[in-house]
Amino acid sequence: MIPELSNPSVCMKDPQRVQDILHSMVKAGSNTLQVISDFDMTLTRFSHNGKRCPTCHNILDNSKVISADCKQQLDHLLHTYYPIEIDSSRSVEEKLPLMVEWWTKAHDLLVEQKIRKDLLAEAVSESEVMLREGFQLFFDHLHEHSIPLLIFSAGIGDILEEVIRQAGVFHSNVNVFSNYMDFDESGVLRAFKGELIHIYNKREGALLNTGHFQELRTRPNVLLMGDSLGDLSMADGVQDMENILKIGFLNDKVEERKQSYLDSYDIVLIKDETLEVPNAVLMHLTGNK
Ligand code: TMP
Ligand code: MG
Repeated sequence: MIPELSNPSVCMKDPQRVQDILHSMVKAGSNTLQVISDFDMTLTRFSHNGKRCPTCHNILDNSKVISADCKQQLDHLLHTYYPIEIDSSRSVEEKLPLMVEWWTKAHDLLVEQKIRKDLLAEAVSESEVMLREGFQLFFDHLHEHSIPLLIFSAGIGDILEEVIRQAGVFHSNVNVFSNYMDFDESGVLRAFKGELIHIYNKREGALLNTGHFQELRTRPNVLLMGDSLGDLSMADGVQDMENILKIGFLNDKVEERKQSYLDSYDIVLIKDETLEVPNAVLMHLTGNK
């Protein structure tokens, strides 16, 4: 048993199942492992000293690259749609079109702002974004053991990359699936590239990227990390999967959502702002403890 699984933030519906999965994964060896993680509110903190931390979108919303009027409109969208995102009384079918609406409206507003590519780094460095405590160990350990890390995010790829670059952990084993900005020849945002990724279509996103999963076909064991129930489908593109261990961060509306998280994630971390448990699992899987 991994001692950190007794931390007070840890909840598991079936601890024996977790043990069995871990046992199979240790036996298979870390050269058969791949990690797939969400970004916002999974690798980044949800709150710090009682204050909410920003998502990729919020980093832009709160920066100088957009006007006060646009900020107000984006805040309005956030206050309208975020409660829907986390509302456990509504079905995914009901939420899905509303989430598409949120992302579409937000991206249209951002494009109207003619954001300059060369100002993104400053927007990130001036923001209050924080990776979860233990991020250094998480990224460095995966890199040292040549374990591929796919960051699968409905946020903004350009911003996400800048966050991990500035934190010094954008190592060569990291791949990102996300919404990328398309800049014109003078470096001004003109659109978003490709298919939109929102929180409830990660399955479709995964299935579009067969090439990535084809390359990783010798790694049928998956550690999945997310904070939304939509993140559970991030591994749907994995070929011939053998074992999957799902770790879910439950950051907000804990009581209403706890049962559904316990039913779908193997390990649920309640209001845990650290990567202590995922790191302990990784150490265990790579034989470092
Ligand atoms: P994730 O898949 O990396 O967690 O990114 C999705 C998060 O982004 C989701 O929790 C909602 C959030 N979001 C904003 O904060 N502002 C926005 O304008 C949009 C469209 C999404
Ligand atoms: Mg998230």
